[in-house]
Amino acid sequence: MINVALPKGRLGEKVYGMFEKAGFECPALLGNSRKLIFENPEKGVRYFWVKPSDVSIYVERGAADVGVCGKDILAEYRPDVYELLDLQTGKCRMAVAAKKGYFDDGQNTLKVATKFVNVAKAYYAKKGRDIDVIRLNGSIELAPILGLSDVIVDIVETGTTLKENDLDVVETVFDISARLIANKASFKFKTKEIEALTTGVAAQLNR
Ligand code: PRP
Repeated sequence: MINVALPKGRLGEKVYGMFEKAGFECPALLGNSRKLIFENPEKGVRYFWVKPSDVSIYVERGAADVGVCGKDILAEYRPDVYELLDLQTGKCRMAVAAKKGYFDDGQNTLKVATKFVNVAKAYYAKKGRDIDVIRLNGSIELAPILGLSDVIVDIVETGTTLKENDLDVVETVFDISARLIANKASFKFKTKEIEALTTGVAAQLNR
């Protein structure tokens, strides 16, 4: 049995469609909104719906053999897992944004509000820019508007949230997409199953 942690939500449903086409279907999965575990013993697969930011924890600790999570999570938490495949979906970017017209004159410590503290620290360390990181849990866009921070480091997908709050992207930090990840021990002991899944899903990408 291969245990798969899927990110709950639209991305997870889309990715499940890829797994289904790869021959790892589990029809019950889409019909029930509250149940969290589904299995298809015939196909040797068990799926869990997991909060997207928790997928890498389940996989790193072996509660799931494989999972799907965004590059943002991998960059922020650096879980000790194998990254098997770029699923080329769930595309967005990690960006620095600020109030329209903002210019960093480099004089003072830059106040950066973000959920992605490690990403922000690494990004500005590379630039040699001193920052004061303010960790927030959501609605990050409020911070520069209310003067809590100079800039934010956050995910931009359509750009609508920034636009509706009069903010602009200053720089792109990196591009994001969903990745198929695997637990290291599982990969050793379930190599055949995990490779079959990876190959089957990879075949969906070029269609
Ligand atoms: C994310 C991100 C932005 C928004 C970007 O927030 O933090 O706020 O999506 O999407 P857009 O460019 O398409 O507008 P999320 O919805 O995860 O909520 P959050 O405020 O809790 O971070």
